[in-house]
Amino acid sequence: MKLWQKGNNVDEQVEKFTVGKDVLFDIQLAEYDVLGNIAHARMIASIELLTKEELNKLEAELKKIYHQIKKGNFILEEGMEDVHSQIEYQLTQSLGETGKKIHVGRSRNDQVLVDLKLFLREEIKSLITHIERLFKLLLQQSEKFRNHLLPGYTHFQVAMPSSFGLWFGAYAESLSDDLEMLLASYTMVNKNPLGSAAGYGSSFPLNRQMTTDLLGFESLNYNAVYAQMTRGKSEKAVAMGMSNVASTLSRLAYDVCLYMNQEFGFVKFPDELTTGSSIMPHKKNPDVFELIRARCNRIQAIPNELTLLTGNLPSGYHRDLQLSKEIIFPAITSLKECIEMTILMLENISIRENILNDKKYDVLYSVESVNQLVMQGTPFRDAYKQVGETIAQGNFQRPQSVPYTHEGSIGNLNNNKIAEKFNSTLSKFKFNEKMRELIQ
Ligand code: ARG
Repeated sequence: MKLWQKGNNVDEQVEKFTVGKDVLFDIQLAEYDVLGNIAHARMIASIELLTKEELNKLEAELKKIYHQIKKGNFILEEGMEDVHSQIEYQLTQSLGETGKKIHVGRSRNDQVLVDLKLFLREEIKSLITHIERLFKLLLQQSEKFRNHLLPGYTHFQVAMPSSFGLWFGAYAESLSDDLEMLLASYTMVNKNPLGSAAGYGSSFPLNRQMTTDLLGFESLNYNAVYAQMTRGKSEKAVAMGMSNVASTLSRLAYDVCLYMNQEFGFVKFPDELTTGSSIMPHKKNPDVFELIRARCNRIQAIPNELTLLTGNLPSGYHRDLQLSKEIIFPAITSLKECIEMTILMLENISIRENILNDKKYDVLYSVESVNQLVMQGTPFRDAYKQVGETIAQGNFQRPQSVPYTHEGSIGNLNNNKIAEKFNSTLSKFKFNEKMRELIQ
């Protein structure tokens, strides 16, 4: 069934090609389509385009469809173009004339947009629950392993003393910044496009503020042309936020692969969390982290893919935009899975003690020796030369104490400050359950 069909049938190949993967991905939009439908129906009833009785019937039917979706029984029937057509079809099947009235004052263009925004809002929310769990775990591990020293490297060369406290905390703080980017994308997405219709508004006296309130949006995309332009742009903003998280995870994954390597041997995981080789009986491979790294690198390509999808589009709706779903939907799922796996692995990590006792790490303390000479009055450059010579002659002795006191150093992790920053950003997300009230 095509909502727009006026007589002759569409060529089968054209139909298959244009529907594409909507059959698959529109299912994820279905519950939001119902919520958008209820808000729209209430609004058009308020301007007398539906009677009270018609509205009641529509709402009752839409609630049924909502529960059908929640039970996993909702499908796009054979020949159905998209979720919007399926729901309108079901309404018309059960309510006849009344069902046919719901599409007044809107277009599928603002309908799919509002669905997407509600979907993205919920997905960001769920992503953040995952991120928060990982953040807390990282800080916990940072505290637990605060005294486990680790070589710090620059250029992959032994550089200065670091610690697992500092290492875990670094990724926690990285997530805290990533959260700020997600907050920006959430704020962008949290605006109502409904009422922009095909992209040029409607001559009906729509009450756009009403649907904005009903759906719990913070405000509107006011300009109808711009509202339509947020298609693709919203997905890209979220993808950019996700891309930062992905970059944090893929770096962490690389560190772990390195630290697990026998030359380093800093960290270990229980056998059941590692994978074997079909030929080498001794192998315990870090496949989980390698796949996190690979997936997260792919996720970082998503903003670029969306840029290429939308980059040559003028304003107005274009069918190209349909493909944004198949780009971003699987990426969201993948990122959540990567976070879950990172949590599972890091909960079970063991860290080698006394790593720095090995003589080869003595030079990590060269700067400390220089600093001690400076404290005794030697100018820095002279102290630097002096220590350099001792190292070259093979006479370097590592100093006993390493007094790091400043903020964010091995002796003063400032994890509480990092947590404060994270929580402050978290509190700025204007999450609300308003849209769910529509089906109560
Ligand atoms: N499946 C379409 C999409 O995702 C729905 C909007 C169709 N609008 C249109 N004018 N053909 O973009």
